[in-house]
Amino acid sequence: MAIIAPSLLSANFLKLQDACEMINTSDAEWLHLDVMDGRFVPNISFGLPIISAVRKATTKICDVHLMIEEPEKFTQAFKDAGADILTVHVEACNHLHRNIQQIKSLGMKAGVAINPHTPLESIQEIIVDADLICVMSVNPGFGGQQFIKSTLTKIERLKQMILAANASTLIEVDGGVTLDNAKAIINAGADVLVAGNTVFNAAVPSDAIKMLKNL
Ligand code: DX5
Ligand code: ZN
Repeated sequence: MAIIAPSLLSANFLKLQDACEMINTSDAEWLHLDVMDGRFVPNISFGLPIISAVRKATTKICDVHLMIEEPEKFTQAFKDAGADILTVHVEACNHLHRNIQQIKSLGMKAGVAINPHTPLESIQEIIVDADLICVMSVNPGFGGQQFIKSTLTKIERLKQMILAANASTLIEVDGGVTLDNAKAIINAGADVLVAGNTVFNAAVPSDAIKMLKNL
């Protein structure tokens, strides 16, 4: 059974409290929060004040995905806002190893996200240091995009790399996860499924979470 991390990006932003309460009583273990800066990705989402507010309304693990340049400037700020897991992009970090240590030294779990075009070799050396690798299965920036099919073999290869390193790093898959493809994603080696549209566009979002959970 995978960990389910609904992405708040697809929620109704006028009703974030309702979304948090739905997730609190659902089978989801994590809450995925997408921060975009309009530079690293061609979109701007939300930032620290929203995360602080959501933190107070949720009982779940806050999984913060930074799609921003120079994320190291904000590590402390996201800790203060309530992040439990802080994920930075390998493409946005010149000193990724240092960034991971910085995140962990503040008591958060450290994640590293990798874009669809970026080879897994770019994270080979930090696999044992990171708590989580977030494999992007769409180009980051927007919810509701289509899953890139070649991600499945990328997940399988990453799983082999983690096993070969004797590491316990989790594999999170982010983007285009649906009730139709989630089983194949889990079979490929995913431990955590992020789901935005599949959860929040469902007739009953908590039922969609339950279905993902019970695959
Ligand atoms: C994309 C974000 C995702 C997004 C996923 O840039 O990182 O977390 O919210 O949304 P869906 O599940 O709709 O593809
Ligand atoms: Zn995300």
